[in-house]
Amino acid sequence: MTTATHPNPQTTPQPATDFLPIDAWDHVEFFVGNALQAAQYYRNLFGFEIVAYAGLETGLRDRASYVLKQNNITFVLTTALQPDSEIALHCLKHGDGVKSIALRVKDVEKAIRAVKDRHATIVQQPTTLKDTHGEVVVASIKTYGETLHTFIQREAYKGPFLPGFQKFEMPKEARKVEPVGLQVIDHMVGNVELRAMNFWVDFYRDVMGFEQLAHFDDKQISTEYSALMSKVMTDGKGKVKFPINEPAEGRRKSQIEEYLDYYKGPGVQHAALLTGDIFETVRRLRTNGMRFLRVPDTYYEALPARVGPIKEDINVMKELGILFDRDEEGYLLQIFTQPVQDRPTLFYEVIERHGSRGFGIGNFKALFVSIEEEQKRRGNL
Ligand code: FE2
Repeated sequence: MTTATHPNPQTTPQPATDFLPIDAWDHVEFFVGNALQAAQYYRNLFGFEIVAYAGLETGLRDRASYVLKQNNITFVLTTALQPDSEIALHCLKHGDGVKSIALRVKDVEKAIRAVKDRHATIVQQPTTLKDTHGEVVVASIKTYGETLHTFIQREAYKGPFLPGFQKFEMPKEARKVEPVGLQVIDHMVGNVELRAMNFWVDFYRDVMGFEQLAHFDDKQISTEYSALMSKVMTDGKGKVKFPINEPAEGRRKSQIEEYLDYYKGPGVQHAALLTGDIFETVRRLRTNGMRFLRVPDTYYEALPARVGPIKEDINVMKELGILFDRDEEGYLLQIFTQPVQDRPTLFYEVIERHGSRGFGIGNFKALFVSIEEEQKRRGNL
């Protein structure tokens, strides 16, 4: 069972003013080696619909982007068309990975003014993009590694994604791919270097006005061999959550160090996607060919003693590899995919919440053995 601290929002003192009000996750943009093919991976395995496209045919010269949608989740896959572009260099160094976590705000100018006053590094000043569907204002700042946060103001826009993108047309004969029931992003996790976690916690607090939701130390998330520490930051309205992990000292290489070694620095470790029916979602993902972290049978044998009686069917959980965790507010069900590119870097979590606002930290410890087995198979332990 998790022993994380979860402040009750009714009793947590709120900052006097939320200087960076965030309305929602807008999208996540990935820089990838081959966006055309990656788009089909997300379509065929995750059940995303490819809705928009921009590239040579729409007047771009240096890149091509595909926009994928499933309910309220929007992913953008972008690739370089020339070897000297920042996208190509990003892929050379990091492999495929998240470039930008875009957040929707009502007023980008105001958001940038607020974070600039608090010493954010501005990568793109507020820029208005227009086409026949209306206009969007975008701006970007730096966060950990080469990752960005992009602010997006899109109330005056009716097009398929952003100005310049056109609707993506699948061939009429194409088999229809069913969505797997993923609804919205739950949280996005960053891995940072040893002793850098508090720097980035301070960044989210001081520059973006976020608050700390939870803290897990190496005593809670450790085995004989490896450990990690994690703090979770959330915006004033509780719309977005960013856990930040750093490796902790262990006898062997931790999973965070393995990520840092292959991503060549800090970056997004996993995106957790919320579903209303994890059993159905995981069944569909498995049928589509998605691979998940293997859960040892001993996990399910030990579960009732760890979390007490549960309403869910443990046999079905075991069959699908679904994990369970409980805290004082409720419970959650979750599962972790294998990395979704050849480097052992980015992976996904699928999560269903029943009252719990935690992150399944009890499972991290229970699963370390399994995670370490995978590392050993890769020759990285
Ligand atoms: Fe997570």
